[in-house]
Amino acid sequence: MISSDVGLAADRLRAGGVVAIPTETVYGLAADARNPAAVARIFEIKGRPTDHPLIVHLGSADELVDWAATVDSNAARLATTCWPGPLTMLVPKHPDVDLRVTGGRPTVGLRVPSHPVADDLLRRFGSGLAAPSANRFGKVSPTTAQHVLDDLGGILDPDRDLILDGGPSVVGVESTIVDLTVDPPQVLRAGAISADDLRRILATEVAEASGPSRASGMLESHYAPACAVEPVDDRATAERLAAQRRTSGERVEVLDRTDDLVIAANHLFADLRAADAAGLDRLIVVLPPASGIGHAIRDRLFKASATRPDPASRDG
Ligand code: TXA
Ligand code: MG
Repeated sequence: MISSDVGLAADRLRAGGVVAIPTETVYGLAADARNPAAVARIFEIKGRPTDHPLIVHLGSADELVDWAATVDSNAARLATTCWPGPLTMLVPKHPDVDLRVTGGRPTVGLRVPSHPVADDLLRRFGSGLAAPSANRFGKVSPTTAQHVLDDLGGILDPDRDLILDGGPSVVGVESTIVDLTVDPPQVLRAGAISADDLRRILATEVAEASGPSRASGMLESHYAPACAVEPVDDRATAERLAAQRRTSGERVEVLDRTDDLVIAANHLFADLRAADAAGLDRLIVVLPPASGIGHAIRDRLFKASATRPDPASRDG
C-alpha cells in the first residue's frame, strides 16, 4: 500500500480514492476537496466527527481565489511570504467550497505545503486536496509513511487508496493556523511560524493562541499516545520524578531535547510513538522554552498529557 508513484497517487485521487500524502509538517490523509463522497471517506477512515473541518491543500497561491470568497491584504501578504510553508489561513470560504469540507462553517482553512512530492502531486492533480493529519482521530500525527501504515493500514482499501511515501516530515508538528476572519488576526494553533513572525510580516497585532489550541474541533486530549506523558520544567525535576516513579514500579523514561528545538519538533511524534512501542507507562518530558517553535512543542505536550477519563477513551 506504500508507494512513491506520484502518477498513481494522482490517478487514485481522480477516481475518488484517499491518499496519504507527505508534507513538511506531518502526513495528511487527502481526497479531492470537490468530491463529497471522497471527502466523506476521510472522516470514516479517520473516525473523525463530521463537524470537524478539513484544511484544503493547494499547489500554488494562485488558486486562493478559487477557494476564498475574498482575499484581503493580510491573506495576500501571508500567501506571498509564507507559502509554500507550514501556515494555514482561515478565510471566508468561496461559495463553491462544499460545507462538508468546512464542517458547516463559513470559513475555510487553506495552505500550500512545502514538500517536493506534495507539490508534484498537487500540480498533477490540479485542484485542492482536503486533508487532515493521517492518524486515527485523537492519536499522534504521523511523520513517516510507516506511521500511517501502522495507524491506517487495516482501514485503507488497497485497491482504491494509497500511502504516498515522501520520506520523513522535516518540521514534525502541524502547521500554524491563523484566523484572518477576526480583527486582530488570531493564532488558533501554534506551529513552526510563530505569532511574532506573523506580527512582523503583517506589521499588525496578532493575538496568540490562549491556552490550548482553540481551532474548532480541537479537543484538549489530542496527540495522545497510550502511555502517560508528564511535562516538567527542567531536567533535574524530570530525573527526580523518574527515580521516584521507578521505585513504585512504573516503567518511566525521561525525554530532554531542549538543546535543539528544531530537532525536538522533528522527533516529537516519533518519540511519543517510540514510548508506546517500548511499553513505557510514563514519559517525563522536559519542556522547551515558550519561544519560536517551542510554543508548538509545548502545546502538543500539554495536549498529550491532558487527563483522559478512562483508558478506553484514549482511542477517541
Ligand atoms: O500541518 C497541518 O496542518 C496538517 C497537514 C496534513 O497539512 N494538517 C492538519 O490537519 O493538521 P488536522 O485536520 O489534523 O488539523 C487541522 C485543524 C483541525 O483541528 C480543524 O478543526 C481546524 O484545523 N480547522 C480547519 N479548518 C477550519 C475552519 N474553517 N475553522 C476552524 N478550524 C478549522
Ligand atoms: Mg490532526
